Amino acid sequence: MTIVESVRWSPDGDGVRIIDQTQLPGRLVERDLRSIDDVCDAIARLAVRGAPAIGIAGAMGLVASLRSFVGDAPEAFEARLRAHAARIRATRPTAVNLPRALDRMTARASEARGGPEEMLAALRAEATALLDEDRAMCRSIGEHALPLIADGARILTHCNAGALATGGIGTALAPIYLAHEAGRRVRVYVDETRPLLQGSRLTAWELSRAGIPATVIADGAAASLMRAGAITLCIVGADRIAANGDVANKIGTYAVALAAQHHGLPFYVAAPTSTLDTTLPNGDTIPIERRAADELAVLHGARLAPEGADIDNPAFDVTPAEMVTAIVTDRGLFTRPYRFRGIERSRDPGRVVQSRPPALGPSTP
Ligand code: MRU
Repeated sequence: MTIVESVRWSPDGDGVRIIDQTQLPGRLVERDLRSIDDVCDAIARLAVRGAPAIGIAGAMGLVASLRSFVGDAPEAFEARLRAHAARIRATRPTAVNLPRALDRMTARASEARGGPEEMLAALRAEATALLDEDRAMCRSIGEHALPLIADGARILTHCNAGALATGGIGTALAPIYLAHEAGRRVRVYVDETRPLLQGSRLTAWELSRAGIPATVIADGAAASLMRAGAITLCIVGADRIAANGDVANKIGTYAVALAAQHHGLPFYVAAPTSTLDTTLPNGDTIPIERRAADELAVLHGARLAPEGADIDNPAFDVTPAEMVTAIVTDRGLFTRPYRFRGIERSRDPGRVVQSRPPALGPSTP
């Protein structure tokens, strides 16, 4: 499988090399992030995006942004570290992976003995561990979700929860990659995902590189395709999952879940345990990012809405837990009532805390 690496260390080890996702699908451009401005700008503009990928890029970016301050006095270096972490944390509010990764980084720095040089080495090791863990979690999600993807499955996905969004083979796309590799015939229906088109620009690009049949559809076409029997199951990623299983994901996900429920189709969420937030009892208090009006009102310089139109552009929505058939994590497949508490902080990758045998999605309508 040729899967892209969306975030890694630059060859000189001093920067974070990302695929600039704003340039896809037209051009495959890589950029090295070195300063705090580079890192914050890349996350805010969605040059690097997807919940796990922004956690990793935030952690690695923190390291890169501190390199030139390693000669500072220890107190000044620590103050700089806290200031940079706070700036990175403020870039995007919804995905819990970002604050969780930064919390891990600052905790690791405060445990490190010695001066800035030692602290930076510890931070680098922690950021590398985050990347490696995410790669392993993606594969594990894929393996746990693979039984859901029958030969002949026709799968609807929303946004991009693939390799571009993670440090590995993705979350929602992970079982699709593994099913394809195992010789199962699958077709993916890709919601284009207005307004920033992560589906048509990124998911369709990724899947076509992997040779997986994919059909891009307008978001509004999903329900009628379900009615026509063209879809056998839905699988999406997540940015934050509350203790009761409410799921925040890209705007439009809730509409997919509603349509799937109406048509009796399974609706699965695939996410690493780093996306669970059991400090929130339900999805009501998940912070939802609201992005610039022009992302909705302007496309490639052409106005799609009149100047001065009132515009609301939430980037995410919340799908209630009762509409989710199962949540597939790196620790196994969970169904309601969810008992997630504690597992997002546990570093024991082998233990399946709660797992139920999955029901196979039908391969024919
Ligand atoms: O605004 P984005 O493109 O960062 O939104 C991404 C999503 O909503 C993904 O579905 C989610 O982060 C999961 S990525 C494995």
